[in-house]
Amino acid sequence: MTNACVIGWPIKHSRSPMIHNYWLAQHGIEGRYEKVAVEPADLSDFLKNLAQNGYRGCNVTVPHKEAAFALADVVHDEAIAVQAANTFWLEGGQLHADNTDIYGFLAHLEQSAPNWHKGQSVTVLGAGGAARAIAYGLSHSGAASEVRLCNRTLARAQALQASFKEHNVSVVDWQQRHEALAGCALVVNTTSLGMEGSPSLDLSLAALPASAVVADIVYVPLETPLLAQARQKGCRTVDGLGMLLHQAVPGFERWFGVRPQVTKELRDLVVADLGE
Ligand SMILES: NC(=O)c1ccc[n+]([C@@H]2O[C@H](COP(=O)([O-])OP(=O)(O)OC[C@H]3O[C@@H](n4cnc5c(N)ncnc54)[C@H](OP(=O)(O)O)[C@@H]3O)[C@@H](O)[C@H]2O)c1
Repeated sequence: MTNACVIGWPIKHSRSPMIHNYWLAQHGIEGRYEKVAVEPADLSDFLKNLAQNGYRGCNVTVPHKEAAFALADVVHDEAIAVQAANTFWLEGGQLHADNTDIYGFLAHLEQSAPNWHKGQSVTVLGAGGAARAIAYGLSHSGAASEVRLCNRTLARAQALQASFKEHNVSVVDWQQRHEALAGCALVVNTTSLGMEGSPSLDLSLAALPASAVVADIVYVPLETPLLAQARQKGCRTVDGLGMLLHQAVPGFERWFGVRPQVTKELRDLVVADLGE
């Protein structure tokens, strides 16, 4: 029997077990995917003892993504690029780490808005861990000709820009976020604004072309105030839940040897659990 898990602190609200256990049942694979609360002080020991504890690998979530990255024996390209990892597996006695948030965001965007206008400018709001993955993915893959990074704390956006080798990432002052949308094919909210219990993102979409796609990686609620505003303007919208579902695909394949599909049935299951 093969087992995997997700670790975080806290971990109670993780939907990852629901996703992976759905795929295990769907493919008739004998195995379990569990959630384990791991305090920051215990992270190193937990990862060292993965195999002894019966795990083939694990997902790592807040607050461990950066610290766990530093503990891996082999770090794959996308984790190096964003200096954080969320997917770990044992191979040849070594602990491998990769970042699947980049894949998750891009795969979901491609599935939800396949003919979005690639190769043009995009604006990414935020400069935290998720922004790092998404800005890198859009810039490095060539999906965007230019990534405009816009964050409340300017210095954080500047530090993010400086960390990229890609030269098509620019920084825009937070006060200029409304105007920054002019000529963009895509705008992505990676801040926590719009999340249940947080204030909404104050963003005018007036300058954004009606042909643009608006994506939000917040998924509680599924339709954030930003996405509702975009829908009213006639823009295509991409919600945050698909990123969560798609980022799980590469990990499942590593641990259990089958590449799973993100189906409507799986999405409906998670939506029901979110109470939407
Ligand atoms: N859908 C998915 O699969 C997925 C994956 C990862 C994350 N997420 C969600 O994405 C969000 C960000 O995650 P993260 O890991 O990047 O978090 P993070 O590293 O803590 O970054 C938070 C970002 O939000 C900004 N922010 C927070 N409060 C703000 C406010 N009042 N006004 C303006 N900006 C504000 C921060 O700006 P400052 O730098 O100025 O503080 C920063 O850019 C969370 O809601 C998380 O749940 C979703």
